[in-house]
Amino acid sequence: MSKKVLLSGIQPSGKPHIGNYFGMMKQLISQQNDNDVYFMIVDYHAMTSLKNSKIMKENIIAVLIDYLALGLDPKKSIVFKQSDVSEHTELAWIFDTITPMAYLERSVAYKDARDNGKDMNVGLFNYPLLMAADILLYDVDIVPVGQDQKQHIEIARDTAEKFNNTFGQTFKLPKEMIMEEVAVVPGTDGRKMSKSYGNTIPLFAEYEEIKSSVMSIVTDSSGGIPENVFAIHKLLRPEEELKKIYEEKAGKYKELKELLIEDLEKFIAPLREKRKEYEKDIDGALAILNAGGERAKAVASAKMKEVREKIGVDVY
Ligand code: TYM
Repeated sequence: MSKKVLLSGIQPSGKPHIGNYFGMMKQLISQQNDNDVYFMIVDYHAMTSLKNSKIMKENIIAVLIDYLALGLDPKKSIVFKQSDVSEHTELAWIFDTITPMAYLERSVAYKDARDNGKDMNVGLFNYPLLMAADILLYDVDIVPVGQDQKQHIEIARDTAEKFNNTFGQTFKLPKEMIMEEVAVVPGTDGRKMSKSYGNTIPLFAEYEEIKSSVMSIVTDSSGGIPENVFAIHKLLRPEEELKKIYEEKAGKYKELKELLIEDLEKFIAPLREKRKEYEKDIDGALAILNAGGERAKAVASAKMKEVREKIGVDVY
């Protein structure tokens, strides 16, 4: 089987949570042996909400260390930050010029942001086209993501087709990879786990943090199976095994939560320890990021050369 190109991105807008891990990061990590994998830290996307240089820097480094602790192998894969490859923003502009406003107005993420009273900057509106550029520069086959990014991948595909039809075959059409059972990992309140809802369990949480997150899981008082606890627990144990336990302990919410705390701690503790090791060598981690940026840049700039030829601005 020939190697595929996989790429995905995460915003350095806060601490990654277990929704990010099960929905996307785990998939990327597991593909490193068989395929070409790009791990991207999308700092320019995060700028749509984050305007603090100190926090931006801390978050970029934190996500990088997170990935290394999870097993990202820089010998096999490329990890880079979006702002190191200026071709992303350059190509996004070109996509701006071939995309009707009305098409982007249909974006679910844009409508959600608008309806939730978010500060509606132009970047939030154009967001999917920068994301299309992120993907299309690298001839990506597969984009592992959670369900919330499905429409963005469709927009990337549509944009590739639009460009190809207008200027000639240039871009490969990418496909999303969404794992059904973790497409929408629920948070402590039963809604999608999300930094903006404040309902997360951080991926590298300390024991006390795990405990307080789990204790805050919303349960109803009708007895039986606490659905929100079960839904998170399912990430860590086979469903059949879990069902038996939950039936035996029906109504005993505290005991079930304690078991979830124990299972989360078993899963997170070794990751946390590894992370502490990587934290001791931030310079080493940054050298990996810098080298990854150079490798990504080489690929992206070759593609941009082709794009410039296709659109007719290469007059020299
Ligand atoms: P971001 O930073 O919001 O999230 C990173 C990844 O985590 C997934 N995810 C979830 N999956 C399942 N359940 C959840 N509760 C959950 N919460 C988050 C997201 O679906 C995502 O895959 N726009 C993207 C970043 C991006 C990107 C790209 C992705 C920019 N350029 C190019 C792929 C390709 C985002 O904001 O992800």
